[in-house]
Amino acid sequence: MSRIAARITSSAPKNYGMYAKAARLPNQRELIHLELGQPAHDTPEHIKAATITALTDGKVHYSDLSGIVPLRTAIAHKLRTFNGIAATADDVLVTNGLTHGSFAAFFAILDPGDEVILLDPHYPQHAGKIELARGRVVSAPLDAERGFSIRADWIEAEVNPRTKAIVLVNPSNPSGRVYGRDELEALAELAIRHDLIVISDEVYEYNVYEGRHTSIASLPGMAERTVSLFAFTKSYAMDGWRIGYATAAPDILSAMLKVTANDVTHVNTFVQYGALAAITGDPLVLRSMVDDERAKRDFLVDALNRMPGVVCPLPQGTIYAFPDIRRTGLDSQTLADRLLEQAGVVVESGAFYGAQGEGYLRICFGSQTLPVIETAVSRLEAFFKSRTTRI
Ligand SMILES: Cc1ncc(COP(=O)(O)O)c(C=O)c1O
Repeated sequence: MSRIAARITSSAPKNYGMYAKAARLPNQRELIHLELGQPAHDTPEHIKAATITALTDGKVHYSDLSGIVPLRTAIAHKLRTFNGIAATADDVLVTNGLTHGSFAAFFAILDPGDEVILLDPHYPQHAGKIELARGRVVSAPLDAERGFSIRADWIEAEVNPRTKAIVLVNPSNPSGRVYGRDELEALAELAIRHDLIVISDEVYEYNVYEGRHTSIASLPGMAERTVSLFAFTKSYAMDGWRIGYATAAPDILSAMLKVTANDVTHVNTFVQYGALAAITGDPLVLRSMVDDERAKRDFLVDALNRMPGVVCPLPQGTIYAFPDIRRTGLDSQTLADRLLEQAGVVVESGAFYGAQGEGYLRICFGSQTLPVIETAVSRLEAFFKSRTTRI
């Protein structure tokens, strides 16, 4: 008998792609990291101050398993007014970031062998959790020629009696697409017709520069079959705090609580007071950080489009550019490796996100300040210039 459970031995290890590769190089100080989706901003001061006050006020004990009531009340208000989801505090579960919310969701809904459809290119970290929950990952392509838009008929081609759920990441990491209402309606119609659950990862809901973010749970008939997942991670620059939240129909949410109450009991009490300050605080703080991301996006995309062989559409949302590099004649991994070795700029290979990502790179403009991105761009320009000179 193996000492290690099959769910561990048969699932893929968590993989940090180019970040792990870059970490092995000796010239760490010279590298510019544009691969990880880690916000460059510091967490705003009023959020830190509220957390420190909570600590000094003795908010250091066990609290409600689902999350403290004032935070869940504020989240429910935000879900109703911003997302169009009719939630009350009882419909909210506070989690350790979106990662924990999706982990709880997959463990709550999957039996061994159940299939979950990921839209390719996809956020790879969802796959590991599906496998740990003994589910099977199935890929359905997005339409690369139309900005990685949703093709419901291509998704439907992957549906069979074992299909339990579809994962939607909106706005999309890595493509940066903000899905339009028509695309979401087509996906919703499919989910309803086949009685599927939609796991909706909305970690970038505020990082929207073009168009409007629509939560799929706000569409008719979808609230009862959607697990909507959010986090303070990206928009409030709180990635290290590990705090997010979920809302879903009562049967699914209480099943998720069974997972979270057993694995972490609840999220750190004083950290929840920081999140409360974030969600009830001045919206201008949030807006100014998003405006900063937009300026970096515009600068980077403009520069990328001047580089030979690179075509970069403007991402409508997220903190990533997803340039098409097929005309460089190199595959994604080779180009990412050369940029690391020859330019000291760390970007992610598009193939890391699935077969449809081949021919693209993912470059995170949210992870550095504008001056650092300017330096990275000069290095990229020098790299591409030396390639053309050699040709
Ligand atoms: C699409 C997506 N979902 C989830 C996460 C992880 O979020 P959290 O840090 O809140 O667990 C990320 C982080 O990059 C992400 O890009």
